[in-house]
Amino acid sequence: MCGIIGIIGNSDVAPRLLESLRRLEYRGYDSAGIAVQTGHGPERRRAEGKIRNLEAVIDEQPLPGVVGIGHTRWATHGAPSVRNAHPHHYGKVTLVHNGIIENFAELKAELKAKGQVFESDTDTEVIAHLLNDALEGGQPLKDAFKRVLDRLHGAYALAILVEGEENTILGARRGSPLVIGWGENDEMFLGSDALAVGPFTQRVTYLEEGDWVILSRGGAQTFDAQGFLVNRPVTTVSASAALVEKGSYRHFMEKEVHEQPDSCQRTLSAYLDPVAGEVRADIKAALDFSQIVRIQIIACGTAYYAGSVARYAFEKLAGLPVDVEVASEFRYRSPAMMPGTLAVAVSQSGETADTLAALRWCKDEGLKTAAVVNVHSSTMAREADLMWPTHAGPEIGVASTKAFTAQLSALLCLAVCAARQRGRITAHEEAHLVQVLLESPGLISQALGMDADIVRITHKLSKARDVIYLGRGDMYPLALEGALKLKEISYIHAEGYAAGELKHGPIALIDENTPVVVIAPDDALFEKTASNVQEVAARGGRVIMITDTPEKVPALSEDAARTLTVVKAPACDPFIAPLVYSVPIQLLAYHTAVHKGTDVDQPRNLAKSVTVE
Ligand code: G6P
Repeated sequence: MCGIIGIIGNSDVAPRLLESLRRLEYRGYDSAGIAVQTGHGPERRRAEGKIRNLEAVIDEQPLPGVVGIGHTRWATHGAPSVRNAHPHHYGKVTLVHNGIIENFAELKAELKAKGQVFESDTDTEVIAHLLNDALEGGQPLKDAFKRVLDRLHGAYALAILVEGEENTILGARRGSPLVIGWGENDEMFLGSDALAVGPFTQRVTYLEEGDWVILSRGGAQTFDAQGFLVNRPVTTVSASAALVEKGSYRHFMEKEVHEQPDSCQRTLSAYLDPVAGEVRADIKAALDFSQIVRIQIIACGTAYYAGSVARYAFEKLAGLPVDVEVASEFRYRSPAMMPGTLAVAVSQSGETADTLAALRWCKDEGLKTAAVVNVHSSTMAREADLMWPTHAGPEIGVASTKAFTAQLSALLCLAVCAARQRGRITAHEEAHLVQVLLESPGLISQALGMDADIVRITHKLSKARDVIYLGRGDMYPLALEGALKLKEISYIHAEGYAAGELKHGPIALIDENTPVVVIAPDDALFEKTASNVQEVAARGGRVIMITDTPEKVPALSEDAARTLTVVKAPACDPFIAPLVYSVPIQLLAYHTAVHKGTDVDQPRNLAKSVTVE
C-alpha cells in the first residue's frame, strides 16, 4: 500500500526523498510523487508508474529545497495517473496520505457547494481543501489541523506541508502506521515504517493510534486523539530493520526464500528450549492452553494459509478445536463466539486492515486475543492481549515466503505447548517434537538444494495457462498457498484443491495442458494421494509430484509415466513437512515467474501491507 516519507533536512531533500521511496517500492504502488518547500510554497513533481519515471521528471525539472514529502500510491479512489498521484495540493496545503477517507464523498459535496474545484478523483484531496479552509479562516496551525482530523472518518497516515511554515511537517495516524525518525544535526523524518526512514536514522518513535504530530527542525510535538500533548518513546531499530538490501540475489523474494533456515531458526529459538527439550518457560507462562476451549484464527492471504496449516497441528496434537477464517469475511459475518475462545490474528505486518478489525471485534466481544506478528511494534502487536512474535526479519518481496514459514514455526511450537498443557502429550513426547522442530532449519536448507531440479521443470510450467495444486491433510492448505504464490507472481491461473476432492469436479479440467502439482510427503495419507496421481496420469494429465519418497510412487503405464515428473524433497517427520515443503512450492513459483519475466518483487496490482479494506 501507499508509502510515505517526510524530511526536514539540512541539504536538498529531493534525492533523499527518492531514495526512501525506492525503499518503499516493496509495498506495491502504481505512481509516485514528491513535494518540496521551495521558498515560495511547496512545489510538486509526480509521475505514473515506477520511481524511475518520477526521477526523470525531477531531472528535467529539479526541485531544490531542504524540507519535503514523498509518496508511493497504490490506487484506491481514481485510476493510477499523474492527476491522482500524491502529493495533492489546494491553496496553502500540500499533502500525502495512506488509507481511505470513508466520508470523502460527503465532505467533497460540502466543499464543492462552496465553489471549490477538485483536480483529482481521490478521497485524499478533501483533506487539503479542509485544512486550507481552516487556515484561511484564521485558525492557528495546530487548531486547524486537529479540527480537520476530527472531521475525517476512515483510515489515514498523513504528511503535510503548509505554505509559510517552511520548517514544519504535519503528520497524523489513524488506522495506518506512521513513525517519526530522529536524525543527526536536528534533521527530522516522518515515514510509513522504519524502512522508509532507515537510510537516514535508526532512532524512531512509533506513533500510536489517533496520534498527530507537528514536526519541526530538531523536534516533534506529539498529541493524542484528544489533543493532549504526549511523550512517545524513542526506540532504536536494528540495522537490519532499517536497511534491507538484495545483496547478490536477483530479487528480494529469492533472498527471502534462502533466508528461511535462519528465519525459522530465530523463530524456533523464541519458543523452544533446546537444552530442556521443551517449549520455553516464558511461552508456557504467558498462556495456559488448558483454559482455552477453542481457537479462532483470523488472517488474510498467506497468513491465512499458515493458520490453516496450524489448525491440523492444534487439533491433532492438542485436541483443541480450531476455526480459521479470512478476516474480511469474519469481521462482517457476526460470528457466534463461544466463551473461552482464544482469537488469534496471524499477520506479517500486524497492520492488515481486515485482520486488525477482526481482532478488535473479538476484543470487543470480550474474547482473549493473541497476535502472531512479524512486526513487533505493529498495531496488532500492541492491541492483542498476547503477542507471539515471528522473527523473519523485514520481508520486502510482496509474495510472502519467510514470514509464512516463520508463522508456521511459531504456530507449530504453540501447538506443542498446547498439547502438553492439555495433557495430550507426555514430557517425553514434547521433547521428541521439540527435537523434530529443531531439525527443520537444516531440512529447509536441504530443501533449498532442490533449486536446480525445480528450475528444470519451470521452463515448461511457465507456458501453462492453468495449474492445479493438490494436497491432503496439512498439505491441502499448502497446495492452496502454492497456487496463490504461483498466481501472485507469475500471473498463471492456479487453483489448490484437497486431493480427495479431485473427483468432485476439478478432474474435468485435467488434460495435457493443465499441469498438476502434487505435494505428497511420506505420511499416513501418501497412498491416497498417490492414487490421485494415478487418476490424473490416466487422463493424460501432466503431474509434478513433490515427495521425499519417489520409490513409493506407484508404477504407471509407460505412457502415463512419461507425463510424470518427480521432484525429490528431503525426508522429514510429517509434523514439520509443511515447513520443508514450503520451500519447493516457493521455488516453483519463483522460477516460473523468472522464466516469464514478470516483476517478481512487485507483482502487478498487489500490495505488501494491505491497510485498506
Ligand atoms: C497482502 C500480501 C500477502 C499477505 C497478506 C496479509 O495480500 O501481499 O503476502 O499474506 O497481505 O498480510 P499480513 O501482513 O497481514 O500477513
